[in-house]
Amino acid sequence: MKEQLIKHLPPDYPGTKHIHWFDTIDSTNTCAKALAQDGAPQGTVVIADRQTGGRGRMGRSFSSPGGMGIYLSMILRPGCDATELMHLTCAVAVAMCDAIEAVSGFRPGLKWINDLIAKGKKLGGILTELSLVPGTASVDFAVVGIGINCCQTVADFPEELQNIAISLQDVIGNPVDRAKLAAAMIESLWKMSRTLLVEKSTVMTKYKADCITLGQDIYLLQDDEKRPCRAIDLNLDGALIVAYPDGTSQAVNSGEVSVRHQ
Ligand code: BTN
Repeated sequence: MKEQLIKHLPPDYPGTKHIHWFDTIDSTNTCAKALAQDGAPQGTVVIADRQTGGRGRMGRSFSSPGGMGIYLSMILRPGCDATELMHLTCAVAVAMCDAIEAVSGFRPGLKWINDLIAKGKKLGGILTELSLVPGTASVDFAVVGIGINCCQTVADFPEELQNIAISLQDVIGNPVDRAKLAAAMIESLWKMSRTLLVEKSTVMTKYKADCITLGQDIYLLQDDEKRPCRAIDLNLDGALIVAYPDGTSQAVNSGEVSVRHQ
């Protein structure tokens, strides 16, 4: 797959020496963070055929069997304060929808904030990690990691995921060329990295259009609390604006949501 991926890379990508390919790795995000700490430049990509310790948000694991998904992380060096990057996960999510649509014709939905959704199930997820320059609010680097389920059949998922996860191949009913999709993801991320700070409102307009959480009655899960509310909007930082039954509202930028079934 590595040679195929290199063949499909966009001409403006800085060079194949910045692509680090592994057959097996614990986590591409962990590896990318170590490379970034050693000075690897913006655009450096870590990609693996299989992860033994794929990580998700909230300390969860991400199932990463060999030959079936794309597990990819990119290093970004945006040169700004963390407060200017609140929308980063949303920008990555939109870039991933663009890449998947370009390769497969199918555009996933987005469950706030980091889940790619198809047919009500999880197609993939995004894990964004920031490292600050010590003693400052300035971002030294960000690592954005994306996992996409590409070729699994239902039986390939662990039992506990079989009702909640889906692969792109299952969605479109055709085989997925992982090398082509990985190259499209790199192209889309690379493009996003160069407009990240100037196209906030364009990105958030696109995120809103793809976001399936908006307009839903949800539970907001934060710390050990679960509060019923309605998802009514998103702000330019990617925070979810929720309305509570008592008429108050709040912009939420942490935690996660689950849909309330009536
Ligand atoms: C989530 O679902 O909460 C996010 C999942 C992110 C998984 C990807 S796979 C590539 C990268 N490496 C990791 O360890 N995690 C991300």
